[in-house]
Amino acid sequence: MLTIDKLNQFYGESHTLWDLDLIVPAGECTCVMGRNGVGKTTLMKAIMGEVALASGSIRYDDGVELTKRPVEARPRLGIGYVPQGRQIFPLLTVEENLRTGLAARSDGQRTIPARIFELFPVLEEMKHRRGGDLSGGQQQQLAIGRALVIEPRLLILDEPGEGIQPNIVTLIGEVIRRLIKEDGLTVLLVEQKLPFARKFADRFVIMDRGRPVALGPIGELTDALIKEHLTV
Ligand SMILES: Nc1ncnc2c1ncn2[C@@H]1O[C@H](COP(=O)(O)OP(=O)(O)OP(=O)(O)O)[C@@H](O)[C@H]1O
Ligand SMILES: [Mg+2]
Repeated sequence: MLTIDKLNQFYGESHTLWDLDLIVPAGECTCVMGRNGVGKTTLMKAIMGEVALASGSIRYDDGVELTKRPVEARPRLGIGYVPQGRQIFPLLTVEENLRTGLAARSDGQRTIPARIFELFPVLEEMKHRRGGDLSGGQQQQLAIGRALVIEPRLLILDEPGEGIQPNIVTLIGEVIRRLIKEDGLTVLLVEQKLPFARKFADRFVIMDRGRPVALGPIGELTDALIKEHLTV
């Protein structure tokens, strides 16, 4: 689904992504892990076109070179993004927040797909509530719902479980599995929570200092790897 080659990114003088290679296979959930500040979010932003790159290639769907496309091309190509920290609009209602996602649809559809309320019933119940009045877990469901409004083929989520109560984290994991199984999505996820990765991901990628240092099927995420790269 994504083939990333030799990506290099700098914030000013600071070299953040180093010759980064990564393959994200279609129809699976790939979980990017790694300590704070290793460049996980920067990698997601690079895929979304939100940071300038010094060099490298990001191919989508066996052909489209994303690095040559503007930011707004992503939703039209079927890439949905849930940024770290959710970034919903606090003063807009749940329904209005979801509608902001519709503008990016390439087919001009102006109704919120029913599937979103099926996956997150709380969004239907709270349709007229302001985003800022929702709990953290409800806001995260809203952020994911908003990314799903374009009916993406690739969904990118940056730490969806951060600061959220465990039952909602589990619900989000279950929704990810349903999106893969029932809707044929590919999911690329940043998540530091080990039990979550083990339960819901198919593959892991551990990053350290701006590049992957270990990867494989989730069953190969050993305690030794965790000790070496993930515990503080
Ligand atoms: N806009 C920016 N300008 C300058 N430096 C930045 C900027 N954003 C991030 N950085 C730095 O780049 C490095 C990688 O940051 P990034 O946010 O990608 O890490 P991360 O792995 O997502 O961390 P976390 O687990 O805390 O979310 C860090 O050292 C961070 O301080
Ligand atoms: Mg981050």
